[in-house]
Amino acid sequence: MATRPGEPTLQGMIRAGDQLHIDVRLATGALRASLREDVRSGLGDSPKRLPAKWHYDEAGSLLFDQITRMPEYYPTRREREILVARVDEIAALTQADTLIELGSGTGEKTRLLLTALAAGGRLRRFVPFDVSETILRESAEAILREYPGIEVRGIVGDFERHLDALPRTGRRLVAFLGGTIGNLQPDGRARLLAGLARSLDDDDMLLLGADLIKPRAQLEAAYDDPGGFSARFSLNLLTMLNRELGADFEVRRFRHEAVWDDRNEWMEIGLVSLQRQVVTLAELDMTVEFGEGEKLQTEISAKFRRDGLVAEMAVAGLAAVRFWTDDANEFSLSLWSRR
Ligand code: SAH
Ligand code: AVI
Repeated sequence: MATRPGEPTLQGMIRAGDQLHIDVRLATGALRASLREDVRSGLGDSPKRLPAKWHYDEAGSLLFDQITRMPEYYPTRREREILVARVDEIAALTQADTLIELGSGTGEKTRLLLTALAAGGRLRRFVPFDVSETILRESAEAILREYPGIEVRGIVGDFERHLDALPRTGRRLVAFLGGTIGNLQPDGRARLLAGLARSLDDDDMLLLGADLIKPRAQLEAAYDDPGGFSARFSLNLLTMLNRELGADFEVRRFRHEAVWDDRNEWMEIGLVSLQRQVVTLAELDMTVEFGEGEKLQTEISAKFRRDGLVAEMAVAGLAAVRFWTDDANEFSLSLWSRR
């Protein structure tokens, strides 16, 4: 349905033009170019690996949502528990009028923050930032319907490359929830945190969700649930490569594996080739050989200790304002400001 700027749509609250704006930093062409580059270098590398961000096409985003509902996958539940307990304190401490959320996804937990900030009468702007355009548009529109008085300025981009797209005005709270910080490689993580620190003004704060180290069995169950959603989430990457790059991966010839790496203190997640095989990626004019048992790393999910996190954040230029955990000490939510 066509609407004129400012005219309410059938859904009632969305006013095209003034309250909803989406800044696309990664349009389809740029996204494909970036995928091609990552696949060419990652599958050409030894050991083979792909960046975690490529999991989130439509099917992958849906599978992640299903993972968060599995009893074994504690992070979402635990983080929500901390947010429920602390959200009013967060609103009072930050006094933010602008909520920016990196890797916002469906924005399910975001509503807790938006409601608390709105209750204080200050909330003016929500800025979801995600690489997945579909999920970003859906959640931006839903949030605009639920919080009709605010402005929603979505950013479709890669938070490792497009931090310059963040709005500079207002008193800002940057939320980075879910433990997604742990999916970055250590050098990328340090760069992102330093970049965020540089972009914060004196009154701005960062709210970080970070998963904590815990027994191996609990971690490995969270990343290989009996319902099979974790496995489908990993294997979906191959389906995506078949579709986007004309690859001929036989999904049945790989199995999902998630093991705790004690030395690096991260979950090492990937796909193991069940046999010797050669895969062709037609659009890249590339063939890739897999040995039997060879692994393709699709993701890491780093887990943290409080002291380690404080030290890492200090290097980035950030100081802790508050550090909370859930009752079982499984997950952390922490508030930081520029040092
Ligand atoms: N914050 C939500 C979603 C976590 S899933 C939660 O806590 O449940 C991770 C989200 O980050 C996905 O929506 C994915 O599309 C997004 N994402 C992953 N890597 C990204 C990147 N490099 N740049 C922008 N978004 C990214
Ligand atoms: C999005 N991110 C924090 C999830 C995690 O726990 O590392 C991604 C995930 N991968 C497998 N299960 C969940």
